[in-house]
Amino acid sequence: MRLYDRISAQLVGWRQRVSHLKEAHGAVKVSDITIEQLYGGIRGVAINVSDISYVDPQEGIRLRGFTVPEILTLLPKMKGAEMPMVGGLYHLLMANEIPTYEDALAVESEWIKRSTVPEHVFDVIRQLPHDAHPMTMFSMAILAMQPESVFAKKYNEGIPKTDYWKYYLEDSLTLTARLPVIGAFIYNHKYRQGQHIPLDPNLDWGANFAHMIGKGDDKEYQDLARLFFILHSDHESGNVSAHASHLVASALSDVYYACSAGMNGLAGPLHGLANQECLKWLLDLQDAFPDQPSCQQLEQYVWDYLDSGRVIPGYGHAVLRVTDPRFIAQLDYGKQHMPDDELFQLVTQVYECLPGILVKQGKIKNPFPNVDAINGALQYHYGIREFDFYTVLFGMGRILGLTAHAVWSRALGKPIDRPKSLTTRMLEEMVIKS
Ligand SMILES: CC(C)(COP(=O)(O)OP(=O)(O)OC[C@H]1O[C@@H](n2cnc3c(N)ncnc32)[C@H](O)[C@@H]1OP(=O)(O)O)[C@@H](O)C(=O)NCCC(=O)NCCS
Repeated sequence: MRLYDRISAQLVGWRQRVSHLKEAHGAVKVSDITIEQLYGGIRGVAINVSDISYVDPQEGIRLRGFTVPEILTLLPKMKGAEMPMVGGLYHLLMANEIPTYEDALAVESEWIKRSTVPEHVFDVIRQLPHDAHPMTMFSMAILAMQPESVFAKKYNEGIPKTDYWKYYLEDSLTLTARLPVIGAFIYNHKYRQGQHIPLDPNLDWGANFAHMIGKGDDKEYQDLARLFFILHSDHESGNVSAHASHLVASALSDVYYACSAGMNGLAGPLHGLANQECLKWLLDLQDAFPDQPSCQQLEQYVWDYLDSGRVIPGYGHAVLRVTDPRFIAQLDYGKQHMPDDELFQLVTQVYECLPGILVKQGKIKNPFPNVDAINGALQYHYGIREFDFYTVLFGMGRILGLTAHAVWSRALGKPIDRPKSLTTRMLEEMVIKS
């Protein structure tokens, strides 16, 4: 398997770099923490190392060192497609190199081989109340596949620590291969009266998902699906879904446990669920102003909203201090494919006015839009109007990144995470002594 060989070929070098840093420079300090940060969600404190991606506050995400525009240009595409294959992105995340067309296809065909979802997984979804949130269905479906974990079996048989990553990779390929089928099953089960469409072995991961939810003839939506999954794949390892998943995997829980945990974090309204909230916010705004609001009208509307104690979904970010490049990539897509769509025009109008209004509020550190400020509007344009499903789409993409982190954490022998907590009394005593 190509991915296995490419990772193997790099491992000696990576392990030497890490050992050297730990042994020769282990005492070098990289982070300090203040009381404000301790009570403030450990914001800005470096507590982990990951080479899969990095979010620069002024520039945004780089995946394996590449910016979003570079990724969209450099990753190989299927013939006739505007957006790259998700398989190529997975190769980049896992193998740390821009894939050739054959590399990307190799991942895609590996995924097709592993795409059969055991029937009991569908049964688990069917057994849940029909109005259960699709993220609950998604997370439980992932967990329901855990009994198949090759890592868990091999671990029980006894394997050297240096081999853990191989079985994490094995599980990761199987889990990711099945995501389009599971995502589509949930969508069809909940919103299309159970009209299921079988996977097409000739399509790539992103297009196959589109095909299985009834968008087999919609080439534009297939490209949007590819774009969406690529943009949501990873955003450094400190966000809630990546952090939760990393923490769980550090206990040597396999990737099914770890990714299900990551999805539970993604389901929160301050994280992945913000895209469903954001579309709701935009549609309410549209109802209030059927002819695009002026900046002045928007300002009054926003103040009323903020006064009710809520945050504007899709705006702000814990790390970024500029417009999210993932927002810009989707904005460019929208400008090209739906310039006359009223909801899309509303997104651009809000983008024009809202940062200035939020700056006046004086609290938010980043008044610019994040990826969620536009996601829903594009999906809505293509008829995916079930808001609560958007976080599942996010989750399908995010698991690509989560599994890459997990494989490399095991490859580099990372131990169980166990940071320390203090009591308020201890802090008070430290303050008195300082
Ligand atoms: C993303 C988010 C959770 C980051 O949180 P954070 O790092 O604590 O953000 P900040 O440091 O800028 O927050 C400072 C203040 O601004 C407020 N603020 C942040 N984003 C805001 C927004 N979108 N609308 C209104 N107020 C906001 C915070 O509530 C906080 O107020 P407080 O001091 O009264 O508690 C936050 O910006 C948010 O809730 N955004 C909306 C939800 C969203 O889009 N989530 C998806 C993120 S990818």
